[in-house]
Amino acid sequence: MSTESLADAGSYKFGKFEKNAEELARLKLQATIAMDMEREAWKNAGLKSGMNVLDIACGPGFTACELARTVGNGTVTGVDINEELIFTAHQAKVSEKVNNVSFFLGNIYNLDLPENAFDFVYARFVFQHLEKPELALSNIRKVLKPGGVLCVLDIDDNWTSFAPESDAFVKFIRKSGAGQKRKGGNRLIGSQLFGLLSKAGYQNVSSRIYPLTTETLGVKMFLGVAVLFRMEFLSKLQKLLALPQLRKIKKAAEAPDAWGATGVFVTTGTK
Ligand SMILES: C[S@@+](CC[C@H](N)C(=O)[O-])C[C@H]1O[C@@H](n2cnc3c(N)ncnc32)[C@H](O)[C@@H]1O
Repeated sequence: MSTESLADAGSYKFGKFEKNAEELARLKLQATIAMDMEREAWKNAGLKSGMNVLDIACGPGFTACELARTVGNGTVTGVDINEELIFTAHQAKVSEKVNNVSFFLGNIYNLDLPENAFDFVYARFVFQHLEKPELALSNIRKVLKPGGVLCVLDIDDNWTSFAPESDAFVKFIRKSGAGQKRKGGNRLIGSQLFGLLSKAGYQNVSSRIYPLTTETLGVKMFLGVAVLFRMEFLSKLQKLLALPQLRKIKKAAEAPDAWGATGVFVTTGTK
């Protein structure tokens, strides 16, 4: 990644993580584990067959390929700032034999796309990483057709919980959230999306929360997808100090009565 694109990638600098291969595997898992729920969210947001869709910050393209299958004779354009992920997305298109999706390198802060071009823009797990969400929302609005829909899916740490109460879990969530903030991100973005879209001039703004729980995902997968990756937001010293906490979290999660959940916010608005 160039220095400029590194800066604009906020708190998500793929390629600079300690465990990039693991992160790619996590993205793939995260793109598939709750697909039924995600399809329901798309339907509620107004996604329809034949639409021209932009998947902004598409990462490795797994979700864009699924969107392309969903819109049938429509098209999907995937854009991401990270060259390596765009390369992976091309590979996914080829291996999954999806013809109506294309991938391009691009920056949400400086979109090189035609205005009034898309019926539906999807932004999945990117707003939590952006330092300038207002600029991103304004740029997306330009490329939406009048009446087109923006659908933002993201997380909010205030909606992540674990029982029986685990001090280690609470501390780890707080520390990694603060670490992501230092890197330009915002782990509390989910509940703020309603206000951000409204202020950016979107109409009919609405937020829904979809639960991901240990019951639906299984405890191990829940921890893997929603918790353990957050080590990447800690400093070297904090990582070392967090190891005993992680052991405690894993132990607590093994208890037969353990239950955890995280709320995924899906916020929509029209141009
Ligand atoms: C957590 S990943 C999510 C990827 C994908 N949407 C998914 O759900 O699997 C965040 C993505 O945002 C991309 N990103 C970060 N800042 C960006 C920017 N300024 N413009 C475009 N993409 C950006 C990253 O490269 C990364 O692929």
